[in-house]
Amino acid sequence: MKTSHKKYLQNIKSDFPIFSQNSAWKNLVYLDNAATSQKPKQVINSIVDYYSSSNANPHRGVYELSVKSTEVYKSSRQKISKFIDCKPEELIFTKGATDSLNGIAFSLSKNFFLKNQAILITVAEHHSVLVPLQQLAQSLKLKLLVVPVNSQGILDILEYERLLKTNDVRLIAFTHASNVLGTINPVKELVKIARKESPSSLILLDACQSVGHLPVSFKDLSVDFLVFSGHKILGPMGIGALVAKKEILEKLSPFSFGGDMVDTVTINKTTFASIPRKFEAGTPNVQGAVGLASAVDYLQNIGLSNIRKHEAKLVKLTLAEFEDLDFIRILGPTKSTLRNGLISFNVNKVHSHDVAWILDQQNIAIRAGHHCAMPLHHSMNVSSSARASFYVYNDESDVSKLVEGLKKVNKVFS
Ligand SMILES: Cc1ncc(COP(=O)(O)O)c(C=O)c1O
Repeated sequence: MKTSHKKYLQNIKSDFPIFSQNSAWKNLVYLDNAATSQKPKQVINSIVDYYSSSNANPHRGVYELSVKSTEVYKSSRQKISKFIDCKPEELIFTKGATDSLNGIAFSLSKNFFLKNQAILITVAEHHSVLVPLQQLAQSLKLKLLVVPVNSQGILDILEYERLLKTNDVRLIAFTHASNVLGTINPVKELVKIARKESPSSLILLDACQSVGHLPVSFKDLSVDFLVFSGHKILGPMGIGALVAKKEILEKLSPFSFGGDMVDTVTINKTTFASIPRKFEAGTPNVQGAVGLASAVDYLQNIGLSNIRKHEAKLVKLTLAEFEDLDFIRILGPTKSTLRNGLISFNVNKVHSHDVAWILDQQNIAIRAGHHCAMPLHHSMNVSSSARASFYVYNDESDVSKLVEGLKKVNKVFS
């Protein structure tokens, strides 16, 4: 399948029931993939299969069906950890990226920071990074330092370096690819600077808009934490991951307590299980893990480099088309190689909600609003934006329909 990926991508929609001939959405131009992706039948069927043939509470039973469910859960973790290039015990299943980030913030609130230390983030962070870390900083009276982006939506690396040099930073968090600007941050360069200027800092990477869109290796990027959500990469909702270095997870206190995460319990004392179970209290989301593992299979069959190429081609085409539309203002870099597969923009004098509404009349689904990044929008002096985001099942005809749709938006409002 890898060799004929172009042909495969051409026919890919037939794998997605939501676009099938008997679906009410068969003609929908779905361009809200940065929010969530549609699901192929392989993923849907894997969940049906799990409940039809393997369902029991894992880890708890000695009977064959429970052992089978445990095996399915374990093999899903193995597959997903291989995909992200970490050890299986370094991958903690969570409800999604937001859950992972809240978990990290909770665990780091225990005996990690000293007085007057700082957390460093960028202005381009999603609220699910910003808000847990802002709350953590406020409760422990830590400084929250913010690296700006320039007018092209590119991170100010000199300011990043200066802030690290002049503060006692203990935690650094940044996004791999912005869900508004589309900018792909130079992670390796940022990590190199951090290790030099702030060697005792932990580095957290929000990989929600990069995993599943381009090749991402936890080992190679050499960050301490990495988070992502399954539902954005063809998997089901309610499953995601917190990936962290083994030696860090071993020291870190759990963020959720209860059954399944313990070794011994007395009325006065609990000792915890080894990783990853220490971080997975309660009955696990086995169907979520199964669905995500199936999504990983699907993505790997196409090839992550092919997906990257496919999205880059669509973004390049859209940017070129937008150049001819003088009523469009693009947020983020105008060079497609600096971007992932999404473009945020504003239509002159038209609110983004109106843009989305008129496009919806033409069967085109885009995102409108602040995309959970209000401080970033404020820093660019806009209150909101419209966003088109591509994935494997989009093609050039979707770009043409978007462009025609936007011409109509402009006509209606001028
Ligand atoms: C960059 C980024 N980080 C974090 C999140 C939060 O993901 P979730 O809502 O799946 O927890 C999103 C979701 O839009 C995102 O785009």
